[in-house]
Amino acid sequence: MERVSFSGTAIERLRSGRVLVLTGAGVSAESGLATFRGEGGLWEGRDPVELATPEAFRRDPKTVWRFYTERREKAAQASPNAGHRALAALEEALGERFLLVTQNVDGLHERAGNRRIVRLHGSLWRLRCTRCGDEDEDLDLTASHRCRCGGRRRPGVVWFGEPLPEGAYEQAAEAAARADIVLVAGTSSIVYPAAGLPEIGREAGAWTVEINPERTAISDRVDERVPAASGSALPALVEASSPGAD
Ligand code: OAD
Repeated sequence: MERVSFSGTAIERLRSGRVLVLTGAGVSAESGLATFRGEGGLWEGRDPVELATPEAFRRDPKTVWRFYTERREKAAQASPNAGHRALAALEEALGERFLLVTQNVDGLHERAGNRRIVRLHGSLWRLRCTRCGDEDEDLDLTASHRCRCGGRRRPGVVWFGEPLPEGAYEQAAEAAARADIVLVAGTSSIVYPAAGLPEIGREAGAWTVEINPERTAISDRVDERVPAASGSALPALVEASSPGAD
């Protein structure tokens, strides 16, 4: 495991404070799932406007579905990595002091065992009818794209220009304002409003820690940077903050 270290403040706040974790696509990179930006990213050579907007779906549902079916297939084949497992262990240890806010739609946090989770950008595993609004979980990769009502079903993810799921941002922002520590892992922090959550926490007194091998849009505005992969850094952090680790 890569050697990573954390400040005493981070460890102390994890041990006794309220913890908010914000994750992005980078935490699933070590499970073999592509991130969005950068080399080999999902948006490389692709136009998000053609694949991740309600207009694109109205114009060309087949192309949009092809993109999401491929992502559902890859996510189904992937397994949670050590970073996901560390966050599940942290929830288990902290209970109500813990909240995970994710921009990820792949379901790997849930499969690792996290339940106290706010999905800001929806889920690849929920399908919603564009006519009657009926929404349910559907893990079947060959699921029909037609609803019982005859309407067309779409992936239950948030597309560009759409509002976040009702109440999700409010719950996340409220938890950020009450947190003693905000851990941000695996996100480029350029998509708002998710990217604004660490700042909300920091202004209200939380210690903010960014776990990311690369610098990001918010790197200059966090209290602590951990330049490491989440699959190494998150287990190390959980280990260091567990009782009796000193
Ligand atoms: P991005 O692709 O923008 O950023 C991924 C981040 O993960 C980058 O900063 C990488 O440096 C970092 N990273 C890569 N490997 C890592 C690792 N092993 N450990 C830790 N970090 C690593 O993905 P997001 O920030 O999640 O929105 O993107 C935000 C939103 O933009 C997505 O939810 C999606 C996208 O458009 C919608 O679809 C609405």
